[in-house]
Amino acid sequence: MLNIALPKGRLGDQVYRLFAEIGYPCPGLEEDNRKLVFEEKEKGVRYLLVKPSDVAIYVERGAADLGVAGRDCLLESRPDVYELLDLGIGLCRIVVAAPEGYVEDMDRALRVATKYVNTARDYYASRNREIEVIKLHGSIELAPILGLSDVIVDITETGGTLRENHLRILTDILPVSARLIANKSGYKFKKERMDEIVGKLTEVTKK
Ligand code: PRP
Repeated sequence: MLNIALPKGRLGDQVYRLFAEIGYPCPGLEEDNRKLVFEEKEKGVRYLLVKPSDVAIYVERGAADLGVAGRDCLLESRPDVYELLDLGIGLCRIVVAAPEGYVEDMDRALRVATKYVNTARDYYASRNREIEVIKLHGSIELAPILGLSDVIVDITETGGTLRENHLRILTDILPVSARLIANKSGYKFKKERMDEIVGKLTEVTKK
């Protein structure tokens, strides 16, 4: 059995469709239910539905052989895994944003609300800017509106959430896409099968 960790939600649906297209469909996954493990014995695959930011830890620790995680999550948790392929989906950007009309006070540390603590620290360290990180887990856009932070470091896809909350992008930090990752020892033992999957996924994502 090859265990594949899919990120629950929108990206997971897209990723599953890619796997189905290359010959690993699993009809159970298309049903609307609360199951988290889906097995397709004939095809020798088991899909695990996990929180997007947890995919890397499942793969690093070998609970999954393969997984798909956003570059944002990988840069944040820096797991010891192989990154096999950029799937070219789940495209978004990590940006710095602030309320419209915000003017930075250079005389004090910048208060940065984010779920990407390491990414934010690295970015501001590279600019020699002192910051105070306010770690949040979601609805990051609220922080500067309520004065909890000066700016946010967050992902944006359509820009809709920023716009509707009257925030504007100050800087682009980096582009994000979904990556296929593999457990290191799992890759050694199942190399042939994983390479075949990478080859097929390369084909279908190039289309
Ligand atoms: C992400 C991100 C923004 C939103 C951006 O949140 O943190 O809030 O998506 O997308 P947009 O540019 O297309 O509007 P997510 O949906 O992951 O929820 P969260 O607030 O729980 O982090």
